Amino acid sequence: MNTAPSLDTLTPAAPEPLCTSADLEERGQAWVWDVLEYGRPARAFAMRFDGAVVAYLNRCVHVPTEMDWQPGVFLDMDKRWILCSIHGASYEPADGRCVGGPCGRGRLTPVRVQEHQGQVTWYPSRDIRPVSFETLDEPPAPPAAADPT
Ligand code: FES
Repeated sequence: MNTAPSLDTLTPAAPEPLCTSADLEERGQAWVWDVLEYGRPARAFAMRFDGAVVAYLNRCVHVPTEMDWQPGVFLDMDKRWILCSIHGASYEPADGRCVGGPCGRGRLTPVRVQEHQGQVTWYPSRDIRPVSFETLDEPPAPPAAADPT
């Protein structure tokens, strides 16, 4: 039996460009993007909170559904907590920890991000990967014309 870790777990993924620093206002609208989690489509979001850029999968701990009130709107009216629009679970933006509501002791799934020289990048992991448009199916070729002979 081969117990060696796969190459995927040994090779750090290259950072992926996400947005510019100016796209993320303090406690403003989040940047939402598509990812693959374990090969399945999912969404992630990045926001600026207390000056730092944080990012998580857009999935509530209570029920695995997207949380934003409107696209990119995650914070409550006071812009203090991430508030799930479905049943009101509250999360600490700085670390994704549940602080109230039906999320219990759960925590949002973090996505590693970095801000450098006005650019925000995210780091794919073994579990959370970028969507690769190269893997999408090619459209079917048109049928060949009938041979008149
Ligand atoms: S789905 Fe988020 S609080 Fe229930």
